[in-house]
Amino acid sequence: MTPHDAGAGDPQGRVRQHSGMTGTRRIAVLTAGTSAPSSSRRLGDRLAEAARGSLERRGIAAEVDVVEVRDVALDVATATLTRLPSPALARDLAAVTEADGLIAVSPVFNASYSGLFKSFVDLVEPAALTGRPVLLGATGGSERHSLVLDHALRPLFGYLHALVLPTGVYAARADWTGDAGALGARIERAGEELATAVAAAPARVRAERTVLEADLEDLLRSLD
Ligand SMILES: Cc1cc2nc3c(=O)[nH]c(=O)nc-3n(C[C@H](O)[C@H](O)[C@H](O)COP(=O)(O)O)c2cc1C
Repeated sequence: MTPHDAGAGDPQGRVRQHSGMTGTRRIAVLTAGTSAPSSSRRLGDRLAEAARGSLERRGIAAEVDVVEVRDVALDVATATLTRLPSPALARDLAAVTEADGLIAVSPVFNASYSGLFKSFVDLVEPAALTGRPVLLGATGGSERHSLVLDHALRPLFGYLHALVLPTGVYAARADWTGDAGALGARIERAGEELATAVAAAPARVRAERTVLEADLEDLLRSLD
């Protein structure tokens, strides 16, 4: 069952419905930085704060889930070969696919998104992000690689039929130390766009794990 089906009648009579009734929206930040601290994570956090602030100004509460691909990098490699995500990776994939809005930030590696970022996205079910608002971000060493947003990230999420927002945010190393106001303005504008798209749709119903699924996950975790 996909998250889209959650809450619909289950032939086996299991209850999978979840709140969503509070109207609280969930924002997922997917970030694939490899440095510590990671500037991609930093950009993802800033974008999430901007979106959350904008939603709250509209009277809508927002919760943010951060998925750092580096934390499940080995699981991503294993699942690429076996198609079996570990419990931790399954939780991260669910956080991404069940969010009301997604912020996806990759470092630029050799003029494109990083391999780790793409490998995670390759594990997302092809229809799972259809129509979902996605805010794109990228970080790089060079100021000259900002078009990675448009020649690499935008086509990827376009292929997945996501609703890619018009403004993406690229932060080069110099942007953090130079005119931070300019970067801040781009972040605010992009966060506003995400909030507008998220607020326009009803809160998504999240799949709730059945007792059996929870038991199975606990069992698998104990074997990790
Ligand atoms: C293997 C590798 C390739 C890179 N290629 C580029 C590149 O083509 N263009 C660029 O602007 N920066 C490039 N960088 C720099 C990173 O994009 C930049 O440091 C990024 O902000 C790192 O993100 P993080 O701090 O989240 O790990 C590269 C870095 C590495 C390690």
